Amino acid sequence: MREFKIAAIPADGIGKEVVAAGLEVLDVLAKRDGGFRLNIETFDWGSDYYKKHGTMMPENGRETLKQFDAIYFGAVGAPDVPDHVTLWGLRLNICQPFDQYANVRPTRILPGIKSPLAGVGPRLLNWVIVRENSEGEYAGQGGRSHRGFPEEVATEVAIFTRAGVTRIMRFAFKLAQSRPRKLLTVVTKSNAQRHGMVMWDEIAAEVAGEFPDVTWDKMLVDAMTMRMTLKPETLDTIVATNLHADILSDLAAALAGSLGIAPTANLNPERKFPSMFEPIHGSAFDITGKGIANPIGTFWTACMMLDHLGETAASARLMRAIERVTANPLLHTPDLGGKATTRIVTDAVIAAIEADN
Ligand code: NAI
Ligand code: MG
Repeated sequence: MREFKIAAIPADGIGKEVVAAGLEVLDVLAKRDGGFRLNIETFDWGSDYYKKHGTMMPENGRETLKQFDAIYFGAVGAPDVPDHVTLWGLRLNICQPFDQYANVRPTRILPGIKSPLAGVGPRLLNWVIVRENSEGEYAGQGGRSHRGFPEEVATEVAIFTRAGVTRIMRFAFKLAQSRPRKLLTVVTKSNAQRHGMVMWDEIAAEVAGEFPDVTWDKMLVDAMTMRMTLKPETLDTIVATNLHADILSDLAAALAGSLGIAPTANLNPERKFPSMFEPIHGSAFDITGKGIANPIGTFWTACMMLDHLGETAASARLMRAIERVTANPLLHTPDLGGKATTRIVTDAVIAAIEADN
């Protein structure tokens, strides 16, 4: 029996609701498979913890997490705690020290789900966005001086290192190579940003030399939004900086039907540290406690976690169950225009796992 230790961090808002649903599904899946066991420990870190202890997670939290094979994360963010405190205090406090530098975001239109793009179905939109997740615009470099005075100044410095750019380009080219179309688009803004982004482009061209079978091109980020909307079929694998990919992947999620469906993996590809798996969406306080959060993004996230752990058969089984459920509009939550609840969707996915052969 293969065994994996999973740290579950539901954190805030609907994060708690969707991770609870995800853990139920994983439990059924492991029993159905019979070949592996998940030892899950759930941590109460997040904004409630912050209100009691003044930090989003305990000081030795990362030491604790190091013993796990993977982290299954919900979302952070509370209406009464500043977003930079919640984000840096928990999510980035795990991603950055654990060197989860590759953020991978698959996007495709699942059966039964309508893209807001007329006439675009699963065949025309099937992307993976690779987001540089360790530096760039979110490196945390900068500061504020003369606070409150008219001459107050704030800087937010983007950091690009040769090592950081090279490793994300290699990761993206390799991923593109593993997909049938072997097609990579490198997103940039080297017309206006003439230092970091120019080096980004140069390194892309260097790394491309190692992958002669991958076709690649370059897109300015503003033009990229148009191409994603008007010619989605021309794209396959996409690599972009931390900020650019953050924005483009919300667009991608919307074009694929809903933010509530989109999964993501924060990978430490060398496996020196555990990787972290989470839905793309946030804590969604507008629907917290209503029982209507779409759990599909968190289920798809579980597929990515299982793939990372090598349990590809269970991952494929879960993906089949998800697609069987999304195919039925009666099982859509309100974000997809339906009336189903988190409970109904979860039960339906569990039933589909049990029925799968
Ligand atoms: P959000 O992703 O929480 O919500 C945006 C919109 O999408 C809302 O209308 C929400 O109801 C809807 N939505 C999101 N996930 C859904 C789901 N699973 N099912 C149905 N509808 C869903 O983003 P927002 O409102 O900008 O931020 C809320 C809080 O979440 C903030 O504190 C923000 O900082 C935090 N946040 C955290 C993230 C993370 O932990 N990775 C990512 C994005 C935001
Ligand atoms: Mg985002």
